[in-house]
Amino acid sequence: MPIEKIIVLEDDMIIRKHLEQQLRNRRYDVASASTIAAAQELLSKDTFDLIFVDVSLPDGEGTDLLRELQTRAVRPLAVVVTGNASVQLAVDCMKAGAFDYLIKPFSSEQIDVTLKKAEDFSQILKVNQFLTRDEHEDSGLELIGQSKPIERLRNLINRVGPAQATVLIQGESGTGKELVARALFRKGPRAGAPFIKLNCAAVPENLIESEFFGHERGAFTGAMNKREGRFELAHGGTILLDEISEVSPQVQAKLLRVLQEREFERVGGSKTIKVDVRVIATTNRRLEESVERKEFRQDLFFRLNVVPIPVPPLRDRLDDVPILAHEFMLRFSRKHGVRVKGIADEGIKALMSHSWPGNVRELQNLVEHAVIMSDEGGMLDRESLRLGAGPTPGEFRNFETAPAIIPLHAGEVSGAPVLGTADQPVLSLAELERRAIFHALEHTKGNRTHAAKLLEISIRTLRNKLNEYGVSSREDTDAAVGE
Ligand SMILES: Nc1ncnc2c1ncn2[C@@H]1O[C@H](COP(=O)(O)OP(=O)(O)OP(=O)(O)O)[C@@H](O)[C@H]1O
Ligand SMILES: [Mg+2]
Repeated sequence: MPIEKIIVLEDDMIIRKHLEQQLRNRRYDVASASTIAAAQELLSKDTFDLIFVDVSLPDGEGTDLLRELQTRAVRPLAVVVTGNASVQLAVDCMKAGAFDYLIKPFSSEQIDVTLKKAEDFSQILKVNQFLTRDEHEDSGLELIGQSKPIERLRNLINRVGPAQATVLIQGESGTGKELVARALFRKGPRAGAPFIKLNCAAVPENLIESEFFGHERGAFTGAMNKREGRFELAHGGTILLDEISEVSPQVQAKLLRVLQEREFERVGGSKTIKVDVRVIATTNRRLEESVERKEFRQDLFFRLNVVPIPVPPLRDRLDDVPILAHEFMLRFSRKHGVRVKGIADEGIKALMSHSWPGNVRELQNLVEHAVIMSDEGGMLDRESLRLGAGPTPGEFRNFETAPAIIPLHAGEVSGAPVLGTADQPVLSLAELERRAIFHALEHTKGNRTHAAKLLEISIRTLRNKLNEYGVSSREDTDAAVGE
């Protein structure tokens, strides 16, 4: 399916017509050319996925065109068609950027093999763009913990992973929802197929549809080329719809159709595309409540919630805190090359009495910070873990006290001016941004909608930033009002 439009560049009319027919029989959209110039003309007008190139053409060598194609950012995969079965020619073609070659005369089966290779290769290339480094590479893939809730979660993953059912993972920010999603994927029969993630909260509203479903060339200003959406790229594999609560009603309707029918159209396109994907969705808002508030379609909720997997907050499994802290200490001392002996008892005690509004991510960030600040061969203690002066547990859930758990730098008061005087150290933009956000929240007494207005950012951006800082979004019910 990643291959749709194909050019046949061949000057021998009989072979050209034959190949064209073979491709059309397989439902490809085929254009043909008998000269390099004609092929270039086609390439300038539309996006093609594959080109069959004859070697000797009236206006030059096919390999010249191949070399020229390599300089383009968007280019079709190229298959050389040649009557000359020499090894040297094959090597030359590959060097010039061909992906495969066919030797004349070729059979229908040979065409099939080449097309299958091209389909697979093209999907791998496209999927690869989305395999970015993420935080899980640092933190590993294992779900750590031995508490009852984590044991139950692991059992659930073992049972649900191998099934194909749609899964909805619900839990507060930083509880490990994505880790659970990846674990489900690895347990499933599709473990070797693509795993494509889309963070619905991170994509601007006007682009989200195209991210999901792709677009045709010219579908909107700036759509210079056809582009596959994440659903298409995930074909045969799994798609992770991260923060699903954040999609607009319009996109919710389209998602419902994909979940029901496994089909959709690209933005600006009329062809219906069918996909076979396993859907895993996550949310850190109670989706049932969004449904009650009529912000989230109930039918979509039911479609997603086939198998609900709740991920418990860290405060409900405090038994896991020491083992998680220890594991993070080992990881971060390796990563930063700092030798740390261990965590002092009072440090562990302090960690155990904290209520972790930012859940495992907060613990992870805290330990990383402590490791970086630690003396070579030292112990992480109450002070380095920055919990010393913290408010009593429970209070952390109120916004006003949140800055205490996202440690401000030494000597800094939360209400301090955002910009210092000339003799003070210069702050990074990220730090300035963080301070401005907390300043606004203090100003609005924790009302996020209001704070977002003052900051002139969307409530969604604000929520994302707070997630980054490890602040729970559980109680920001006021957020919905602003959207
Ligand atoms: N049980 C666990 N064992 C080890 N690491 C964990 C565990 N739970 C969470 N983590 C780590 O904590 C961090 C946050 O986890 P993750 O991104 O999965 O949370 P999330 O629930 O998706 O959060 P958000 O809602 O903010 O997206 C990650 O680095 C993850 O590897
Ligand atoms: Mg997540």
